[in-house]
Amino acid sequence: MNRTFYVTTPIYYVNAEPHIGHAYSTIVADTLNRFYRAQGYETRFQTGTDEHGEKVVQAAQKEGKDPQPYVDRISQLFRQTWPELNIQPDHFIRTTDPEHMAVVTAILSRVYESGDIYFSEYGGQYCLGCERFYTEREIVDGRCPDHQTPLTFIKEANYFFRMSAYQDWLIRHLQENPDFIRPERYRNEVLSFLKEPLEDLCISRPKSRLTWGIPLPFDENYVTYVWFDALINYLAGLGYPDGPLFSKFWPSVEHIIAKDILKPHGIYWPIMLQAAGIAPYRHLNVHGYWNLDQSKISKSLGNVIHPRQLKDRFGADAVRYFFLREMVFGLDAQFSEENLIQRINADLANNLGNCFSRTLTMIEKYCGGFIPESGEPGPEEQRMKEHLLKVRETVSQEVRKVTFHKALMTLWEVIDGANKYVDAQAPWALAKDPALQDRLGTVLYVLAETLRQTAILLSPFMPQTARSMLDQLGCGPEKEPVSWEEELVWGRLAPGTPLARGTALFPRIEVKKETPPPPPRKVPTVEMKAPSLLMGVESQAMLLATGDGKRLTVVVPEGAVPPGAKVK
Ligand code: MSP
Repeated sequence: MNRTFYVTTPIYYVNAEPHIGHAYSTIVADTLNRFYRAQGYETRFQTGTDEHGEKVVQAAQKEGKDPQPYVDRISQLFRQTWPELNIQPDHFIRTTDPEHMAVVTAILSRVYESGDIYFSEYGGQYCLGCERFYTEREIVDGRCPDHQTPLTFIKEANYFFRMSAYQDWLIRHLQENPDFIRPERYRNEVLSFLKEPLEDLCISRPKSRLTWGIPLPFDENYVTYVWFDALINYLAGLGYPDGPLFSKFWPSVEHIIAKDILKPHGIYWPIMLQAAGIAPYRHLNVHGYWNLDQSKISKSLGNVIHPRQLKDRFGADAVRYFFLREMVFGLDAQFSEENLIQRINADLANNLGNCFSRTLTMIEKYCGGFIPESGEPGPEEQRMKEHLLKVRETVSQEVRKVTFHKALMTLWEVIDGANKYVDAQAPWALAKDPALQDRLGTVLYVLAETLRQTAILLSPFMPQTARSMLDQLGCGPEKEPVSWEEELVWGRLAPGTPLARGTALFPRIEVKKETPPPPPRKVPTVEMKAPSLLMGVESQAMLLATGDGKRLTVVVPEGAVPPGAKVK
């Protein structure tokens, strides 16, 4: 069995700063990477930035900069954002890297020599945002379906990639490999696209119009353009064609993208690979959009949310959990701070955090802060052990299918189970009876061991939380990554281990409600007299009250009373 795993994110355009849409794909890739690493696979995770093209030149001009310093700055922003979300890529590629440019040149030469690139004139509707031509069928109300901006008619002589020659091959490949593109809806979308004849792909721009690109090796008056440059990053980062990383990792490549770039990844890319004599990728994993008020979060729509803002307020792992739990991979999801806070409070603070802290508190209180010896496990304990095994299996299967929300739902069943177990076993009651000390040890041991294994199962999703849980249970610092095979063995938590209690995993987020100030309290005052001095203090009014020696009750007149009226 191939024990390598290679995962990629799209390389992000540097005309925008990182936002949570970019963060989602990158968190997904990081989670997969950590999961496979924990299964003992040799893994590689690549992300990076896409830095050529007209859009970038324009964005640089807006800042009064040359393209190079501009792309250096934004690329650095992306690079710095990822560790803040506990994302650890193995390689960060830039399309301006000389190594990348060399691989693009080599592949262009190869495909040109094999006759699949030709020179011709073409006119069509072009979206600057997507940097591609749109066919009549794709255009919605004369606008780009993605950016909703008007398209520009462009006609010029360019180089074209003969995609049409590979249409039948691609249809066959999709039919023979049902999960090549997943979830299925996107495979169907590509297949339906392939029902129409494929147009060849324009892959160049004249240097007279654009210089910020990679020169074509066979015509110095042109640079290559966008997709032929960008997609090749996935090969270039492995040192294609001769690097040892290429032969090791390419067979297991998994791409993560959103549906906006399905066509380039589902059609252009497999055909480019086929034309260059390279095996296709293993899976294209396509997710939906994070929307804000029904619109895709994007720079062009001006509704971005920066990952750093969320991380600073809620913590990196809480943000990771929310993204992975809330989105059904493949479908769109709605971002809202309320949802985020609700998930943090319900799932993380109340459920996981509470279970963890009450277990530690009881071990501190009843066992002096040391993991107790377990007595003979009963049927309840047996059930907990078996449940954990089942959950491990399900979590593994779901992560392999990129259905993270299901993996996390399953994992939370363990935490729910542990909370119910505490309530049912009532360790506080056992603690009162010296004859039940054995049973108390068993219950607290089972809880601590369940939480240790939960931490290990959680580690791909929430690495920092997992580490903190293990540390607090006295199991750290151990080597990273945590191996599931070695660690998910019941009983590895040694009795007698001292706890190393730290801060709460997830403090509850208090929602500051914008409540209107309370209306001024009506104090029933009765004006009886002009202001006068009472015990040396000026009194403006009087309260009338009756009392029974214990309580005072204010007496309120039924109607308006003129100043100076007498109390009878
Ligand atoms: N540079 C190209 C990709 C080249 S890959 C060979 C590009 N860049 S991009 O900056 O526009 O990034 C698009 C990707 O960012 C999406 O495919 C997705 O991974 C992520 N997302 C950007 N906005 C998003 C949402 N609102 N929701 C979910 N993902 C989003 O296209």
